[in-house]
Amino acid sequence: MISNEEFLRAMSNFASGVTVITTRDKAGVPHGITVSAFCSLSAEPPLVLACINKSTGSHYAFIERGAFVVHILGEHQRHISEQFAEPLLDKFAGMPLLETPSGLPVIEGALVTLECTLVQPYDGGDHSILVGKIESAEVMDARPLLYFRGDYRRLDAGD
Ligand SMILES: Cc1cc2nc3c(=O)[nH]c(=O)nc-3n(C[C@H](O)[C@H](O)[C@H](O)COP(=O)(O)O)c2cc1C
Repeated sequence: MISNEEFLRAMSNFASGVTVITTRDKAGVPHGITVSAFCSLSAEPPLVLACINKSTGSHYAFIERGAFVVHILGEHQRHISEQFAEPLLDKFAGMPLLETPSGLPVIEGALVTLECTLVQPYDGGDHSILVGKIESAEVMDARPLLYFRGDYRRLDAGD
């Protein structure tokens, strides 16, 4: 078995996009968390998955609400990724916010915005694997924010 350090060092070499995933708990409190462990899962039905650490303050809210919004961030949204990766009391302070018809918080200006219903949470060690069915999708013309070896990256100018 490998150490936690070896695991993190190896996995940091997997280049990814960056998402912020939001929801609202039963009491109406909005939650959001920066997530790079996100991927496309199925086309028919349209499914995605995201892995959320069980120890985050927002974990319960995703399960409780049974619905969430995935924002695939553009390169102009690094500050949003940073804000939602901090254990702040009000992560939504200063955010340009909208709402879905069902009342979930939407951060304006993302490259892609996916409204999802939770199909099933699965156990994944210290994370839960949330499988979501895409109910609506909005795509903007922007360049993606990337993450590789512990730092934010951008596509080369020519890409
Ligand atoms: C680039 C980046 C990617 C991250 N990816 C994940 C992830 O996939 N799953 C996760 O649970 N936390 C991830 N995190 C950490 C959470 O965003 C962070 O722990 C957050 O503050 C937890 O939310 P909380 O304040 O509600 O506990 C990531 C952080 C960064 C900066």
